[in-house]
Amino acid sequence: MTTTLITGGTVVSATGRVLADVLVDGERIVAVLAPGSQLLGSDLTASVDAVIDATGKYVIPGGIDAHTHMQLPFGGTSASDTFETGTRAAAWGGTTTIVDFAVQRTGERVQDGLAHWHELAAGNCAIDYGFHQIVGGVDADALAALPGLIDEGITSFKMFMAYPGVFYADDAQILRAMQVAADTGLLTMMHAENGPVIDVLAEQLVEAGKTDPYFHGIARAWQAEEEATHRAIMLANLTGAPLYVVHVSAKQAVEQLATARDKGQNVFGETCPQYLYLSLEEQLGASSEQWGAFEGAKWVCSTPLRSRAEGHQDHMWQALRTNDLQMVSTDHCPFCMKGQKELGLGDFRAIPNGIGSVEHRMDLMYQGVVTGEITLERWVELTSTTPARMFGMYGQKGVIAPGADADIVIYDPNGHTSIGVDKTHHMNMDHSAWEGFEIDGHVDTVIARGKVVVDAGQYLGRAGDGRFVKRGLSQYLI
Ligand code: URP
Ligand code: ZN
Ligand code: ZN
Repeated sequence: MTTTLITGGTVVSATGRVLADVLVDGERIVAVLAPGSQLLGSDLTASVDAVIDATGKYVIPGGIDAHTHMQLPFGGTSASDTFETGTRAAAWGGTTTIVDFAVQRTGERVQDGLAHWHELAAGNCAIDYGFHQIVGGVDADALAALPGLIDEGITSFKMFMAYPGVFYADDAQILRAMQVAADTGLLTMMHAENGPVIDVLAEQLVEAGKTDPYFHGIARAWQAEEEATHRAIMLANLTGAPLYVVHVSAKQAVEQLATARDKGQNVFGETCPQYLYLSLEEQLGASSEQWGAFEGAKWVCSTPLRSRAEGHQDHMWQALRTNDLQMVSTDHCPFCMKGQKELGLGDFRAIPNGIGSVEHRMDLMYQGVVTGEITLERWVELTSTTPARMFGMYGQKGVIAPGADADIVIYDPNGHTSIGVDKTHHMNMDHSAWEGFEIDGHVDTVIARGKVVVDAGQYLGRAGDGRFVKRGLSQYLI
């Protein structure tokens, strides 16, 4: 077993920062020590196998991206990152655990969907991984299968109020599934958009010749997100199920969550970097020499990018500060322009929905520290500690403390990261949704369960380093 001492860094947690040395033995953190500490008179630096000098740098718990879709079959194609390429890119960016979504559809058994997802991931991941369960066909068989997921380490499941004919669940199905969640402690995750309403608006736009990606954002109006968020909250209230709303982008949806939380309801919300930085006007409405107005397809995702003029982005940052939103995940669901996004040339409805960001979440959120949107501690909380607590991994993940997995990132606040396909880009995509973004910081070293997997611009890990994480119940249950 290798012993490693990380010296001289500032250890940052969700609650504070301290100059400390971190001792790793094999796969675990075994001590957090005063700098230069002499344990029983011994010079630790001389007795460990490796010393990593983190002077002037932050030492943080590895990022946990609790919303990814590796290899997701969607929109007539499949997300372009495999578990191998996507988790390697995640490691490059300082994420050491992902929670991906196993898929069940109408007519399929939940157990079979889950088994298939295990087959896709096992032996291929660069970092640890867990699963949520997508329940795309809420029938009696699926409802009966839900409680058994807990013993499998799957303690959360996602339903969709959007995508009629694909993953869509109606109110009756949602109610029944939430009743199971309330009885068992499973956490209900909700894609909260009114799909039937969106489909009518989208059809009318296309009939009127408004077929460019921009109109994806018009069809998926904020009213459809607010209404669905409110409905999900009320159904959760009725059943007593806790609720976690994924990829929140509309300020009105945040207000629904905040109101429910103020009334004491156990509801949570996640946003994503794209809803903090990107917009309907600048990205969905973009045009280029290569693609013309179809350039915006790079940013077609659901929920959609919202209008900057309406102030959604500023409101998301504010909600992260005030804890009206609790987490930032990526909803990593990458598609290439060639052969994938271009399926929707001439009809935005056929553009596969999704953006790839798994590699950049830690950097993008750190830039929020630099610009004063969030504190250093909140950065760690939003990207690692709360995801661990929300999804039943805290103690093992999400913290630098004795007994925790040695998932550690050494982050240089004096470094710099330029994002772009010819710069920092390891995701399996032919473009970057983050082209040209500049970050005033740098992921220097990434340690995943005790193994240095990224250091000094080199990838040192391999497929199969990552193991399945059996998760417990959410630690926010009351
Ligand atoms: O655009 C998105 N979000 N694609 C992935 C599927 C989902 O709804 O999360
Ligand atoms: Zn979704
Ligand atoms: Zn998603």
